[in-house]
Amino acid sequence: MKFKIIYILIFFSLFFIKINSQLPPNPTAVKFEVSKLLYIFNKTDSYFTKLVLYDYFYPRYEMAPNYFNCTISRNDDRVCIFHSDEPFSRLWGSLYSRVYFREVSSDNEYSTQLIQTKFPAPYDVSFSRYPPTSGGDIVINGTFLRLVGGPSRLLHSIENVEPFVVMGNFSDQSFNCNSIKVTIPPGSGNFNFYFDDERIYNVPFSYAPPIISSTINEFSRSIIVINGDNFFHDTSLIKIYFDNIPQPNPKITVNHTQIEASCYHITDPGPLSIHIKVNGVSSEKNSSVCIPAIVKSITSVSSKIGGVVTIEGSKLFSVSKPNLIPIIEIGGKSCVYLQSIENTLVCKLNPDKSGGKNLPIIVKFDGCNSIISNDVTFSYDIPTIINAKVSKGMVIVEGHNLASLKENSIIEVNSQFGDIKIEIKQFQVSPDESNLSFKLPLLKCKNFNVNITIDGTPSILPVQAPIMSSVIKRPSSVNGTLILELYNTKCIFFELMKIPKITYGNTPSMDCSVPSLQTSNSDFYITSCPAPYGTGIDKNYTLHFNSESFENKYSYAPPVIQYRTFSKGQEDLTVHGSNFGNSLSLIKVFFNGSDISSQIRSLNNNQFSFKKLTTYENGMINITVDSIDMESPFYITLPPIIFSINNNISCNGVITINGKNLLTKDKEFQVKVLANEQTTTKIYSSEKSLYVQINSKRSPINTTAYIGEYLIMSKNIEFYKKKSIFDFYFDITKDNC
Ligand SMILES: *[C@@H]1O[C@H](CO)[C@@H](O)[C@H](O)[C@H]1NC(C)=O
Ligand SMILES: *[C@@H]1O[C@H](CO)[C@@H](O)[C@H](O)[C@H]1NC(C)=O
Ligand SMILES: *[C@@H]1O[C@H](CO)[C@@H](O)[C@H](O)[C@H]1NC(C)=O
Ligand SMILES: *[C@@H]1O[C@H](CO)[C@@H](O)[C@H](O)[C@H]1NC(C)=O
Ligand SMILES: *[C@@H]1O[C@H](CO)[C@@H](O)[C@H](O)[C@H]1NC(C)=O
Ligand SMILES: *[C@@H]1O[C@H](CO)[C@@H](O)[C@H](O)[C@H]1NC(C)=O
Ligand SMILES: *[C@@H]1O[C@H](CO)[C@@H](O)[C@H](O)[C@H]1NC(C)=O
Ligand SMILES: *[C@@H]1O[C@H](CO)[C@@H](O)[C@H](O)[C@H]1NC(C)=O
Ligand SMILES: *[C@@H]1O[C@H](CO)[C@@H](O)[C@H](O)[C@H]1NC(C)=O
Ligand SMILES: *[C@@H]1O[C@H](CO)[C@@H](O)[C@H](O)[C@H]1NC(C)=O
Ligand SMILES: *[C@@H]1O[C@H](CO)[C@@H](O)[C@H](O)[C@H]1NC(C)=O
Ligand SMILES: *[C@@H]1O[C@H](CO)[C@@H](O)[C@H](O)[C@H]1NC(C)=O
Repeated sequence: MKFKIIYILIFFSLFFIKINSQLPPNPTAVKFEVSKLLYIFNKTDSYFTKLVLYDYFYPRYEMAPNYFNCTISRNDDRVCIFHSDEPFSRLWGSLYSRVYFREVSSDNEYSTQLIQTKFPAPYDVSFSRYPPTSGGDIVINGTFLRLVGGPSRLLHSIENVEPFVVMGNFSDQSFNCNSIKVTIPPGSGNFNFYFDDERIYNVPFSYAPPIISSTINEFSRSIIVINGDNFFHDTSLIKIYFDNIPQPNPKITVNHTQIEASCYHITDPGPLSIHIKVNGVSSEKNSSVCIPAIVKSITSVSSKIGGVVTIEGSKLFSVSKPNLIPIIEIGGKSCVYLQSIENTLVCKLNPDKSGGKNLPIIVKFDGCNSIISNDVTFSYDIPTIINAKVSKGMVIVEGHNLASLKENSIIEVNSQFGDIKIEIKQFQVSPDESNLSFKLPLLKCKNFNVNITIDGTPSILPVQAPIMSSVIKRPSSVNGTLILELYNTKCIFFELMKIPKITYGNTPSMDCSVPSLQTSNSDFYITSCPAPYGTGIDKNYTLHFNSESFENKYSYAPPVIQYRTFSKGQEDLTVHGSNFGNSLSLIKVFFNGSDISSQIRSLNNNQFSFKKLTTYENGMINITVDSIDMESPFYITLPPIIFSINNNISCNGVITINGKNLLTKDKEFQVKVLANEQTTTKIYSSEKSLYVQINSKRSPINTTAYIGEYLIMSKNIEFYKKKSIFDFYFDITKDNC
């Protein structure tokens, strides 16, 4: 606060009435210093001799003498140095203070008002401080402050304000005019001090510039409160700039010390420079206010795999400084900035095995911290569920951090009408935890809900499943009927009255039956569809129902053998049954483990024939048609064959017939043994031998063996001794017969 006033040339004579007819001396140069006052005059001009200072209208008689010591310099100038016995600090006077001068030509002395000459201007002026707008005392230091002043009246340029009053008693010898004190009333802006009563010399000054000590963001009211000082009390004189943008309607809320700025056009986070002008007086240094990003919500990530965190809020991106990258910390861990748009910020967290709940969030733009609204915190492993859908027979639930659903969660599938609840215990979570899937349960109706309850809060996800069907009865190879169970039907009466259609590959579509329930409380609808001729497994069918279609596979019913017949003369063996197909290349026949397929002579769907299988014994026949096996093999019997009729002494009265297939039951194939035309008693039979007790006692015995009505073999046998039946059994166990 130093003001040096160096030589101001003013022509006073134009403004002042001359008291004397003589022209006042006109120094060619002056030099004013703290303790030196020097005038230079043209040697031929009049020159100063002494000062007489006035206290208002009266000369100060108490003042010690003074004089101007004038000498002619080498340049032929008259150099006058002021000498005063009164200290310079006591040189005070009023507008009426006078200077005496001597005219060179006449040597007469005259006087004139000091103010009409080049009088010393205030020199080395300094101020103790700028006055606060609330007013206060200031001390002004300098020299020649009061030579032609009030003396106690200090003029200024503030409108409608009385001159300031210099404190103290000028008459008091100890009063120092080089350090004066005035009380400045409340005010604002720039003004001038005039140290002389004619306002010739002015020193520009001002009220103290506005100071900002703190700022408070009150975004709820959309204002920023600025605390400080020197704001005065006139709202119309205040100008607030945020980053050079003037803020409309600033308001003084506490006189001098508090103002409110509207948050006009503040969209960016980070520090904002505040510049305030009060009646033209600018704040000396610009403060800054932190405009915080506002965090309203945050997503979670898996502690195992980390990932992208999305922060929602406002002011999460600086439009004016697009390269300003925020520093984000979550639970003390850095979250690497990825991108942000105005209300969304995305960053990436590394996995953090220890996880954690309710961790603090920090988002800093250029050092400016964020506001976390509603105490939002971050927790790892909070599952988020987005939606559920059905794809390829699986229910897919999409979301984030779904692995954590393994704990404290219940997944339920509820039917459209709430009558069915299926708890899902088995599900798979994708490695990135973004989806979980489980097998679509079989449901009668198309619409159902996946109900996921996490920590007691259910999420109900509506799902629509496409129509599906499964085969409940396989069709026979010819004129078959495919009976299907329908799942995920539109459980609406008039939709169910429509007729499903079925296609097989490129076949024209065929009508199925109207879906029906087998019993009134059946879980599913069924429909019967005609099936084309065929054999084998994994055939395609496509069911069309209510503008949906569903493709699935079906297999033909397995071959079934019902009975076998022989042609007349037993030349051919024919096996009867169903689902045999009509292709020799597709049927395989095993008889007692041997593949006899190559011996088939003819085949149609219901029967196939062989040439008589004389070399075979009774046994299991099983067939495979187009890789479909019979469900259970069929025991097939062949006509018996008799090899020999034997007698044995030890087996008294017992005849043995050896052959094969001797147990074959058919009437026409029954083995009958007569002894001398009389019946015998069968005592044991197996496929290979038949033991009969003969009742005749006449020897020799003409033994005849018949198959059915045909006599196959006869033999005369000598009869020796009849043993008891008990003995016979005893004997055969010894294998004697
Ligand atoms: C002083 O005044 C005289 C008469 O007016 C003039 O001739 C002379 O040039 C002046 N000297 C200087 C140094 O101005
Ligand atoms: C006036 O000044 C001269 C030169 O500086 C000096 O020699 C002389 O003593 C001074 N006279 C008085 C009365 O102070
Ligand atoms: C003004 O002068 C007084 C007395 O000499 C001194 O104590 C004070 O420090 C000065 N103040 C300034 C602002 O120069
Ligand atoms: C001012 O000081 C003078 C000299 O000490 C004294 O006579 C006078 O009464 C004082 N005036 C006031 C108003 O104190
Ligand atoms: C203060 O802000 C104003 C306007 O907002 C600007 O003109 C000035 O250069 C700034 N001053 C400093 C020191 O930053
Ligand atoms: C603030 O200043 C104005 C104008 O001087 C005045 O009317 C008002 O009462 C003041 N308010 C306070 C709280 O001092
Ligand atoms: C589940 O998420 C994994 C990983 O993102 C993805 O490869 C897979 O296709 C998703 N599964 C489904 C059915 O959307
Ligand atoms: C969802 O499941 C929870 C837990 O099993 C159960 O309490 C709730 O009633 C279910 N909500 C619906 C709409 O089925
Ligand atoms: C299959 O159905 C057709 C048409 O109804 C019929 O002519 C034919 O005899 C049937 N075939 C068999 C083996 O039932
Ligand atoms: C049956 O469907 C499968 C796809 O499910 C397809 O690859 C195959 O070619 C189809 N077979 C026929 C005979 O149409
Ligand atoms: C049919 O016979 C073959 C050959 O002995 C055997 O491999 C197959 O398992 C049998 N099938 C059935 C259903 O017994
Ligand atoms: C045994 O009886 C059969 C049938 O009666 C007859 O054909 C056969 O010649 C008889 N054999 C003997 C040796 O008599």
